[in-house]
Amino acid sequence: MKTIKVGIVGARGRSTLAGFRAIEGVEVTAICDLNEEVLNQIGDMANIPKRYRVYEDMLESDIDAVVIATPMQLHVPQAVAAMEAGKHVLSEVTAGVTMDELWWLIEAKEKYNVTYMMAENYCYTPAVQLVGALRRAGLFGEPFYAEGEYLHDISHLAVYNNGKTSWRSYWQLGKRGSFYPTHSLGPVMHWFIGDRIAEISCFGTGGQFFRPELRQDELTVTMCQMASGALAKITVACKAPRPHNMHAYLLQGTKGCYEAPRGLGDDHKIWLEGFGDPDKVEWQSLWNFKEYLPERYKNPPKEAEKAGHQGGDYFLVQDFIDAIRTGEEPFCNVYRAAEWTAVGLLSEISVQNGGRAVSVPNFRKNMPRGEKIVRL
Ligand SMILES: NC(=O)c1ccc[n+]([C@@H]2O[C@H](COP(=O)([O-])OP(=O)(O)OC[C@H]3O[C@@H](n4cnc5c(N)ncnc54)[C@H](O)[C@@H]3O)[C@@H](O)[C@H]2O)c1
Repeated sequence: MKTIKVGIVGARGRSTLAGFRAIEGVEVTAICDLNEEVLNQIGDMANIPKRYRVYEDMLESDIDAVVIATPMQLHVPQAVAAMEAGKHVLSEVTAGVTMDELWWLIEAKEKYNVTYMMAENYCYTPAVQLVGALRRAGLFGEPFYAEGEYLHDISHLAVYNNGKTSWRSYWQLGKRGSFYPTHSLGPVMHWFIGDRIAEISCFGTGGQFFRPELRQDELTVTMCQMASGALAKITVACKAPRPHNMHAYLLQGTKGCYEAPRGLGDDHKIWLEGFGDPDKVEWQSLWNFKEYLPERYKNPPKEAEKAGHQGGDYFLVQDFIDAIRTGEEPFCNVYRAAEWTAVGLLSEISVQNGGRAVSVPNFRKNMPRGEKIVRL
């Protein structure tokens, strides 16, 4: 088996290290960061021999794959350059910052035929995977509604520790709409696999209540209508002062309902028709159904237990390497990455037009021109 050599760009890429280390025949041989201190800190900690400050220099080395964990506005230029150099790409969220960029990304992936995967780690938590397995087993009946919430005040990240304005103050907190939708949509679309988001409509609070110098709304609600008619509600609040609640999800089907915990001792709850007391419609713990967990989650290796996002950061890396080795498309492939990212980009247009519905292009291969158009 040929060893796969990986290079990481951007400090956050260190979250993938434990995953890569645990896989036979994979080595992280190179790291790149503009900040020399960060570069050497991670390089020394992880014993990574090759260190670069210039990304293009790393691409000229003998690595087979790159992890892109730089600021969002660099993801597409760096991913396209990597693919052009014949490297596989694991890109942090979101995939890109403009609609045109998403098409460039897809064109490059199709042209160079390497693996592209977006690192949407929230799809990989045990609870999301268990609900997915129950849904695939038909226990929810026909799912028709879901919710995903990302409630995480990041307004302090508008400024770096050294007092300088950060990239987030432009590409995240400087924009209106649901700019960071993939942590909400990833799990939801894992449950609606086979469907796609056809239309969205976004309403926001406007941003005037808290830190008005940042253009982002305190809270946005984006309704996503799928091609099947199913509906998903995505709530993003990154400028609202409140405790974190980054993992709140709901799935409603004709025979079952799941709700994630919302804090203070609450647990993952589920009701499935035909389970429990037949005379009562009552919640029970999601974990009562844990025999449905995908095999690799039942006895996770130590590395997975230590990895971030309840093991998500570990299993995600495993899927990336499997996709490279088998040549099969990963779940978070370039088309889904573009679709989920587009929800955020188009929500900006919708919210600025009083919540008007906007159609989401069908990014899949060989779609007729009419399917690729954004209609207001
Ligand atoms: N999936 C998750 O749970 C999660 C969590 C946090 C951040 N993220 C994503 O990770 C990415 C990075 O976020 P962050 O919070 O680590 O940002 P950050 O600003 O803290 O770090 C970015 C790093 O990239 C380096 N960098 C910037 N430009 C570079 C260039 N041209 N070449 C090489 N290195 C460069 C910086 O020096 C810095 O070390 C973002 O896309 C963000 O959305 C994802």
